[in-house]
This record gives sequence, C-alpha cells and structure tokens, in this order.
Amino acid sequence: MKIIAGSSSPMLAKNLARIMSVEIADVSIKRFPDGECYVKINEEIDHAIIVQNTYPDENIVELFLLQDAARRVANKVDVIIPYYGYGRQDKIFESGEAISAEKMARLIEQDADSIILINPHKEHIRNFFTKPVELCDAVPAVAEYFKGKVDAVIAPDKGALYMAKKAAEIIGCGYNHFEKTRISSNEVKMEIKDMDVEDKRLLILDDIISTGGTMRKAIELLKEQKAASIYAACIHGLFIGNADERILQAGCSELVATDTIETAYSKVSVAKEVAKLLRL
Ligand code: R5P
Repeated sequence: MKIIAGSSSPMLAKNLARIMSVEIADVSIKRFPDGECYVKINEEIDHAIIVQNTYPDENIVELFLLQDAARRVANKVDVIIPYYGYGRQDKIFESGEAISAEKMARLIEQDADSIILINPHKEHIRNFFTKPVELCDAVPAVAEYFKGKVDAVIAPDKGALYMAKKAAEIIGCGYNHFEKTRISSNEVKMEIKDMDVEDKRLLILDDIISTGGTMRKAIELLKEQKAASIYAACIHGLFIGNADERILQAGCSELVATDTIETAYSKVSVAKEVAKLLRL
C-alpha cells in the first residue's frame, strides 16, 4: 500500500502516511507550457491510495490522471477527496441546471474501488456514487483543538447545527445556531434565540469558508451582543480573495481550518480520522 499525494493536500497525505506507517509513492506531476497536466507513477504499487481535492478545477484533471495512472499499475485504487469541490450544487435548484455533485461522483468512481469524502457539503452526496463510499467527519478533530477554550459553539445557520452539536458534546459546552428571519426582500435578520452570549467565549463553526461573508456577519453580530471572545473555524478553508484577513479584522481571536485545503490556517489535521476509516 502506498499513498499517492496529489498537489492539493500534500500535508494531509504526509500526515496520513506517518500515522499509517506507509510510504508516499514516487510520482511525477508536471504541467506542460500550455497548462495541461502530466503525471507518472515511478514505481510498482499494488494498492494505491490517492489523496487529491476536486478543487480548484485544475486539481480535478490531475485527480483523473492520477487515477488513470494508478489503475494501470495497481490492483486496488482508493481515492480520498479531502475537499469535495462542486459539492454545493447537489440538486436542481432551477430548471436547466447541472447537478455538479453527481457528475463529479460519476467521473471519480470510474477509476476507484472505494472513495472517502471528508465532510462533503451534504451527506446525501454519498448516494451519487455506486462504489463504496465512507464519509469522514473532521468535527471531532476540530473540537479537540478547542477543548477548554470556549463556552459555546455557534452554527452560522441551521445547516451547520449538527456540527455545532457534535463539537459541543466533545468540548463539553453549550451550542446554538443563528436563525434567519426575512424582514423584506433584501433584508435578513440573523439572531441567536434562547442563549445569552454576553461575556462568553464562542466558537463559530461552519463546514466551508468561501468568501467569508457568512463568518464575518456572524462575528459582527456576536460582537454586538458583547461576546467575550470569538473563534472562527471551518473544515474546508477556501478563503477566496482576502476572506481570511477580513474575518480576522471583523474581530475574531483566531481562525482555524483543517488540512483538507492547505493554508496558513490549517491548524487541525484530519489524518487520524481518515486513517481510522482506511483501517476498517
Ligand atoms: C453554506 O451552505 C456553507 O455551509 C457555508 O456557510 C458557505 O459556503 C460559506 O460561504 P461564504 O464564506 O462565501 O459566506
């Protein structure tokens, strides 16, 4: 068994290799002058475990080529997708749209014996695959990081409430979520019901930080309500533009993400949780 580390999450691949006591395979990954990708596996492998995101677009092609190359040399190919890009379009919202989460699944499983997804945007994404899929939950790893540091975990919306609840159980603190009420066509009120946040140390936890708009709004509202300190965390930190800086400027003490997408904020590794699934 060897790990094939794609370009997107080398730190996670390295952590995984260390925890599982397996080697990282010798693989060449290059770009031609026109931007096209070239990959070559430089050794014999019986069982390949590929670690690669489907985000941004160029990593998708790299993943497909790594899968194709692995299928040609190995007997078994497992694919770990730390951040399942294209997962947010998981249904038809308006007639005429594609379901990108489903299309990606169809393409990925062509050259995979099994797939591991880490906190895909919605759990039902697993049903788009016809091959065995395991879902890895990074929330316990994030919660461990915040043990003893916070008094409550806040979900920025109802969709992230299950994460706040789970993290709070591990940390041993309270949890809640923002409720959105539409005031008018262009005004939405966000509030936390049944919890006094004044003087509390709070962790806002979301699955994805993209533009950072959701997180910033949540921080501003908690500051208005006189929270003692605010931490911002996510599983997948995309940090589009200068989202990270703007979140920090909004007044949070620390910004934390995992190593599904490698950034300066990847302070929590999901490698242990992934290794548990690979050992099953
Ligand atoms: C939405 O459903 C997700 O859980 C995140 O809240 C969202 O992707 C965050 O986006 P942004 O950082 O652009 O506000």
